[in-house]
Amino acid sequence: MNPGGDRGGDFLVIGSGVAGLRAALSLVEHGDVVVLTKAEPTESNTGYAQGGIAAALGTDDSPELHTADTLGAGDGLCSPEAVDVLVREGVRYVRELVDWGAGFDRAADGQVALGREAAHSVRRVLHARDATGREIARLLWSRVSANRRIHVIDDAQATALRVEGGSCTGVTFVDGERRVRQVSAGRTLLATGGAGQIYRETTNPAIATGDGVAMAVAAGARVTDLEFVQFHPTVLSVPGHARFLLSEALRGEGARLVNASGEAFMTRYEPAGDLASRDLVARAIVRESRRTGAPVYLSLTHLDADFVRSRFPSIVAACAAAGLDLTREPVPVSPAAHYVMGGVETDLYGRTSVPALFAAGEVACTFVHGANRLASNSLLEGLVFGARAADAMAGPIEAAALADAEVVTHRAAGTGAAVAGTVPDVAAVRELMWNAAGLVRDRDALAAAVTTLGDWSQAVAGIDPSDSAARRVRSLVVVGLHIARAALRREESRGGHYRSDFPDRDDARWQRHVADVTVG
Ligand code: FAD
Ligand code: SIN
Repeated sequence: MNPGGDRGGDFLVIGSGVAGLRAALSLVEHGDVVVLTKAEPTESNTGYAQGGIAAALGTDDSPELHTADTLGAGDGLCSPEAVDVLVREGVRYVRELVDWGAGFDRAADGQVALGREAAHSVRRVLHARDATGREIARLLWSRVSANRRIHVIDDAQATALRVEGGSCTGVTFVDGERRVRQVSAGRTLLATGGAGQIYRETTNPAIATGDGVAMAVAAGARVTDLEFVQFHPTVLSVPGHARFLLSEALRGEGARLVNASGEAFMTRYEPAGDLASRDLVARAIVRESRRTGAPVYLSLTHLDADFVRSRFPSIVAACAAAGLDLTREPVPVSPAAHYVMGGVETDLYGRTSVPALFAAGEVACTFVHGANRLASNSLLEGLVFGARAADAMAGPIEAAALADAEVVTHRAAGTGAAVAGTVPDVAAVRELMWNAAGLVRDRDALAAAVTTLGDWSQAVAGIDPSDSAARRVRSLVVVGLHIARAALRREESRGGHYRSDFPDRDDARWQRHVADVTVG
């Protein structure tokens, strides 16, 4: 290590969630690996995952059934080839985790226990109580940290991808002492995770600011389907207390959504009731809350209290911290931004439109989730496509075989029009995104948001990259603008994208992907 200076390596991985760590474990078989990560190595969306990881392991299950459920949730926009890779290779990579000693819960017969979540037709979710991500992160990190050929640089925020002669050659980053440094690499993997922090209400931790998408945009990479953001229906919503995810696994075990009168209402909106797909449940909650003028609650009071306490210890504790007993009283819930389906477009091997730049995990758009992700398919995607990207990175540079999408070209901020507006604060961006590009969208609000975000993007183009607060705003604005612009463009409703002025799915015009590329 050369802590003060720059360094180089065969492979660079940016991000230490499930995708980055799994990739590093394969890459190290082919050369030296540098893993760059923004905070502590185990701080990632991965570490907060609750419900579990899906894999067709049950005797009543099959890759075909898992495919059908994934395609159904994706609302017509999944790539069947990508989903096939996910579900088939998923079985192999999840078994690998079990072989490596993952502490998944076991059934009475000693087999791995499988949970149920919304829109899954069978039980197929492996879990470690209600903190599955923490267990997977622990396991992967224990293997990465024990490997001397993987050099981890933490408290290191990547700020820009380096592109020379059209290919990615590494990254510029700012270390914990605000020094600007570089890593050069023959191959670079973006595994920077999601962007939930763009929204006022979110399940995501502070690291999830969309940096990977923002850096890819600046490097001229294709970013695709960014209008598709998933809002998780059930987040504990107590004024004065931090939002905390109440896992879909609760409903998988029988929890019910009820209104303020205690009436179970979901079947009034969706035939599949409490286990309808996330986008449908989230919007039903908003409609019921508007109809009644009161909050909506999640109730487990009819379930065995000891079972609830042992199966969901973290959730019980989070409710207790907010003064609520999950086993005895309904708890107030509301939706929050949870996951971005779109992202840096890749082929089935993580290749992006920029040679030598790969992407995997939530930052990527592999088309496995289409317009709406099936629960517990994200950890799976990170594992499978992290490993596949690593395999491709170990080989020769090949052009990505990207989807047949419409490509819209934009001019980079700060290169044309005079710099307009002042740099906003984070809260202003998050409020705007929540109100205009949240669960229910329409043309007027989106168009106004695009104008505001466009002005802000000119202003943030000139920030000092060694200023971490400014970098944060820059990522939120760049990704927010892409989401709002894509949402304005798509004049239909599908999956996570709902337009009140175009409430129906319109396959004739919109059963297609749209990519954005920024030049300049
Ligand atoms: P992450 O795990 O988010 O890792 C990203 C990494 O990149 C982090 O290490 C971060 O520090 C680093 N990073 C980011 N920007 C930079 C930068 N500029 N420079 C350097 N490093 C950077 N999915 C499921 O499948 N099952 C679940 O049960 C589930 N539950 C969830 C519960 C919660 C509360 C949340 C928030 C998400 C949940 N998800 C779940 C979604 C899932 O956890 C994530 O989509 C997945 O873990 C993403 O993995 P990743 O490796 O792509 O990114
Ligand atoms: C949850 O536990 O409800 C989250 C699962 C997921 O995001 O896949």
